[in-house]
Formats: sequence, structure tokens, C-alpha cells
Amino acid sequence: MLITANDRLFVLTGAGISAESGLATFRGSGGLWNGYRVEEVATPEAWQHDPLLVWRFYSMRRRDALAAQPNAAHLALASYEQQLGDRFYLCTQNVDDLHERAGSVRVHHMHGTLFQSRCTRCDRVFPDQSFYESAAALPACSSCGAPVRPHIVWFGEIPLDMDAIDRQLNRATVLLVVGTSGSVYPAAGFVHIARQRGACTIYIGPEEPLNNGAFDQILLGAATEALPALLLHA
Ligand code: OAD
Repeated sequence: MLITANDRLFVLTGAGISAESGLATFRGSGGLWNGYRVEEVATPEAWQHDPLLVWRFYSMRRRDALAAQPNAAHLALASYEQQLGDRFYLCTQNVDDLHERAGSVRVHHMHGTLFQSRCTRCDRVFPDQSFYESAAALPACSSCGAPVRPHIVWFGEIPLDMDAIDRQLNRATVLLVVGTSGSVYPAAGFVHIARQRGACTIYIGPEEPLNNGAFDQILLGAATEALPALLLHA
């Protein structure tokens, strides 16, 4: 038994958990960046250079996420959270809302969320499901009139609420990582921190991640199969 009902579980998810819901991963074949180079759409420089391209990209991702449904892996995590309560913490690199729609409550989106936008001047964050796909439609802040950007953490920016993440990593007895290539830091380093602090570290995905050496267990398989199987016996 890798996880017991007495454990304090920190779950880190990546694009792979939403792959079977039809949302493209970043680095696989058919990955999201195939049509767009990452530096064209997910950096502050890209935003300065071409905000319309950036908004078209995130509008496309909003459309895709709205059409997707949570899968068995999202549902298994939500159901396990009900058993563990406050001993469960879910940190996702994903900006889709499939964890919430599956019923997860204790979710932290370290790379931001697709369905919020933020004022570039007054930093007001607000819910937003709109699509902005022409220069005339680009949004402005209703409080101060400045341009509004996606509430997404871009390359070169600091992930949201790293203090809370660190506190939770400190307390976890098990770190369960699902569907992330282990190539983007700081998330790729969580396994090293958890391991140093004595937690058991488990990875689930169809292929080994880049940081594979730091895991105690690697369960090769699709998230919708391997994750429910693991949590069913926990
Ligand atoms: P990647 O695209 O780098 O990796 C996706 C991982 O999912 C790969 O390791 C696949 O093997 C795995 N995978 C594919 N299908 C799967 C399935 N059915 N079940 C489980 N795993 C599966 O995506 P991330 O690691 O999430 O950041 O990328 C990390 C960050 O890089 C993203 O949050 C994003 C991106 O740039 C920002 O936008 C800031």
C-alpha cells in the first residue's frame, strides 16, 4: 500500500492529467506549442510585442477547456479529497478548471487560471470566460482603463503563492505527481524538496519524467487508469 488514510497527501498535477479529456499537453506530439512557439505566446515579452496574438491563443485555450469534461483521474482525486479532508492538498500547473468541475475544493493553480483575467495596472483579478480575438475587442479594466491580460503565470514570472506550497510540502508524508514532464521549475523541484523532508514520492504517467531519479515509485500508465487504481486501494 503506497498511500494510507493517515497520510498527508500533496498532489502535483500537470497537463497529462487533462490529456484524456482532450486537452493537448505542451511537449508531446500534437502538443500545444506545435502551432505556436512558446516565446510567441507565454512570456511578458510576447505580451508587450503582440497582445492580440496572446489573447487569441488564450481564447483558443478557453474554448478548448470549456468543451472538455473532467475524466476519471480528476474524479478520483476529488473523491479521495473527501476522505482525507484537510490532509489533502492539490497543486496544479494546469490552468483549466477540470479539477474544480470534478469536485476538488483544495486546489491551488500555481500557474494561474484560464478563466480569470487581471488588470496590468491595478492588478485587479476578475472572473472572465470571454474570447478576445480582434484588436477592437481587446479588453480594458473597468476600474482604471488599463489593458487586461490573462491571469496566467508566464515564463520568467513567479508562480502564485509559493509560500503556501512550501508549507504544504513541509507537512506532506506523500507526494503524488501526475502527468507532468518534470521539465519546468519550480514545480519540477517539488519532488526533491519532499524527498529531503522524508516524504514518499510517487509518479504516475505513461512515460518517465525528466526528474525520474527522485521518485520512490513510478507507476507507468495513463492517469485515468493508474490513478483510480492507486487511490482505490489507499
Ligand atoms: P508537459 O507537456 O511538459 O508534459 C505532459 C506530461 O504528461 C508528459 O510527461 C506525458 O508523458 C504525460 N502524459 C501524457 N498523457 C498522459 C496521460 N494520459 N496520463 C498521464 N500523463 C500523461 O506538461 P507539463 O509538465 O504540465 O507552464 O508542463 C509544465 C508547464 O509547462 C505548464 O504548466 C506550462 C508549460 O509551459 C506555463 O504555462 C507557465
